[in-house]
Amino acid sequence: MKKLLLSLATCSLLVSVLAQTNRIDRKVDSVLRLMTLEEKIGQLNQYNGDWEATGPITKAGDKQEQIIAGKVGSMLNVTGVEHTRVLQELAMRSRLRIPLLFGQDVIHGYRTIFPIPLAEAASWDLEAIERSARIAAIEASAQGIHWTFAPMVDVARDPRWGRVMEGAGEDTYLGTLIAVAQVKGFQGKGLGDTSSIMACAKHFAAYGAAVGGRDYNSVDMSLRQLHETYLPPFKATVDAGVATLMNSFNDINGIPASANKYILRDVLKGQWNFKGFVVSDWGSIGEMIKHGYVANNKEAAERSIIAGTDMDMESRSYIGHLANLVKQGRVKVAAIDDAVKRILRKKFELGLFDDPYRYSNKAREEREWNNEEHLNASLDIARKSIVLLKNEHGLLPLKKELGAIALIGPLVKSYKDHLGFWSYDWKDDSLRVPTLYDAVRSKLKAGAVINYAQGCSITGMSREGFAEAMEAARKSEMVVMYVGERRDQSGEAKSRSDIQLPGVQEELIKQIAELGKPMVVLIGAGRPLVFNWTSQHIPAIVYTWWLGTKGANAIADVIFGDFNPCGKLPMSFPRNAGQVPIYYNHYNTGRPASSDSDRNYVSAYIDLNNDPQYPFGYGLSYSKFEYGELKLSSRNLKANETLSIEIPVTNKSDRNGTEVIQLYIRDLVGSVVRPVKELKAFKRISFNAGETKTISFRLRTDDLKFYNNELKYDWEPGEFQVMVGGNSAEVRKENIIWGRGK
Ligand code: GLC
Repeated sequence: MKKLLLSLATCSLLVSVLAQTNRIDRKVDSVLRLMTLEEKIGQLNQYNGDWEATGPITKAGDKQEQIIAGKVGSMLNVTGVEHTRVLQELAMRSRLRIPLLFGQDVIHGYRTIFPIPLAEAASWDLEAIERSARIAAIEASAQGIHWTFAPMVDVARDPRWGRVMEGAGEDTYLGTLIAVAQVKGFQGKGLGDTSSIMACAKHFAAYGAAVGGRDYNSVDMSLRQLHETYLPPFKATVDAGVATLMNSFNDINGIPASANKYILRDVLKGQWNFKGFVVSDWGSIGEMIKHGYVANNKEAAERSIIAGTDMDMESRSYIGHLANLVKQGRVKVAAIDDAVKRILRKKFELGLFDDPYRYSNKAREEREWNNEEHLNASLDIARKSIVLLKNEHGLLPLKKELGAIALIGPLVKSYKDHLGFWSYDWKDDSLRVPTLYDAVRSKLKAGAVINYAQGCSITGMSREGFAEAMEAARKSEMVVMYVGERRDQSGEAKSRSDIQLPGVQEELIKQIAELGKPMVVLIGAGRPLVFNWTSQHIPAIVYTWWLGTKGANAIADVIFGDFNPCGKLPMSFPRNAGQVPIYYNHYNTGRPASSDSDRNYVSAYIDLNNDPQYPFGYGLSYSKFEYGELKLSSRNLKANETLSIEIPVTNKSDRNGTEVIQLYIRDLVGSVVRPVKELKAFKRISFNAGETKTISFRLRTDDLKFYNNELKYDWEPGEFQVMVGGNSAEVRKENIIWGRGK
């Protein structure tokens, strides 16, 4: 009976959703029938607000008159209840009174800044990640924003690329789960709820594979690699109902993404049946001239609209040329209508036709603007994102009874850098965003002495501050150094050829270390950095990324033991940039090195080990987790059987802690070579001191699927390795046969 009721409920929900969709489609068609060609093209045109820019500025122009004339469908970088209302009122003076969409880069928080997405990925906490996006949506929508240009779901294996900070790292499986969590967070209960904003999966596609890790650079790969590694997070967001996608700047196998018919029409709108709309990235349609793919903006407009890019962000190609292209018969009205309908459908779903001002609510803006609950949520995920890389002799956590502590480094008194790239400089940030100095002060007993010295700047080469730093360390019983990148050294157009700690920071570390004091090094950055000397010689190292408004508090909570670190790296950390791209799920090659020191005609460098400084999935805790024997339900399974996996894990410490237990497989023989390891599941489990838990996983043959050489997505019977561990390099493994004698 219960099942029957459930299925009835599901059916009625489906019926109501279908009815609502049909109702909206009828409304869309009724508006479309009234529109002139110019008004239709206006809906495909997006301008930047006059004051912010996240790309090269084009000429200002008479945007407000164009809004009244129905030539603008959307604006970006227009925020605030008043501002959005003023522009919306102009749109209400247009002939058909079609409301504007306001889009904004709300990437990791809005008023309350959350950890950068790469840091949040290190938490492996999907609920916390969803909550982060939910809060960002609540705050942004309270400021009149309908649409965020997030999540960035670009798989990235190259830390030279500055935008690794904006995504979920190197793994497709982890990145796919995180992408879905973010879309759910942003879109909440669904468009129509005024705390929901449209999400935008970007950058479609394979932007993270730019040659040389150089932003905006070319991408060239097999369609098999594209489908296996880079497209799955996008597909998952489409299946989760993402409202929009955004083109990437790069060309893919010679065709710029903005006019890449294969990924836009054939895959996204064809195979995946995507019903939302695609916006270009800033000027990317016009940039096809520089790509050498078109001769002018008119050709750019023609290629892009036909390929399936619906809205033109700031290249003015659509507004300038589509009407002519239609009149010349080079573009069919049907292509324009398809794009317009997709955009109008979202405006109806958002409820903007019923009430264009429904997001411009002053009372809501004030209510959400300094929300304590949001700050607590930001602190929570910030703590979980911190990765403990090293902790010899239990140097950490620090004692709060310390009498004199040295705080040394260029980040100790920074507050802006905690906010990371893609954050907003609110005028009261200096009051709301504590520095590490403030946070440590609040942990120490009254009367404790903090000996502070900047020591050096982040990027400068001056060593003048070294002496003062040495003196601060000499006077102290414990030294904490806080070094890393400036927040604008990772992000868009921030690729670095050398990913060492910038400036003379590691020299300063070396000098301070010579004093022989107990020493902790904290590293704040938007990407994996290289700091080999520090890795080898400093007993305690904590990677703090950029953690947002409450970042300093989160760091202090961890180093003073009020939070037991549990973050795990979402990207491999190279020993130097020469190893890049370096990632855990690589192929074996025909001559794999048998050990780190093997150089004898194997795939290795003569001057460096192959393995990373820190592997994917790695992160320590103040607890010590011991993994027992792997137990499998069978060593020889039929095709339709499910494999059950169990492993006992014990917290051998006297401190409660959380561990991310990771399940990997290896397909030992395939019709195409297979990675030596593939993450297929993970569980984030809390343990009491001394507690043992049996952790279980289940695998099905669906989990073994991959794209073969004919781009067929399937699995192949044979021998597999099942691996479980606390990181990708330290695993218990067992072999099984699956599917022989199907
Ligand atoms: C930028 C970025 C994109 C962003 C857009 C709007 O160039 O590539 O991620 O959403 O422009 O700011």
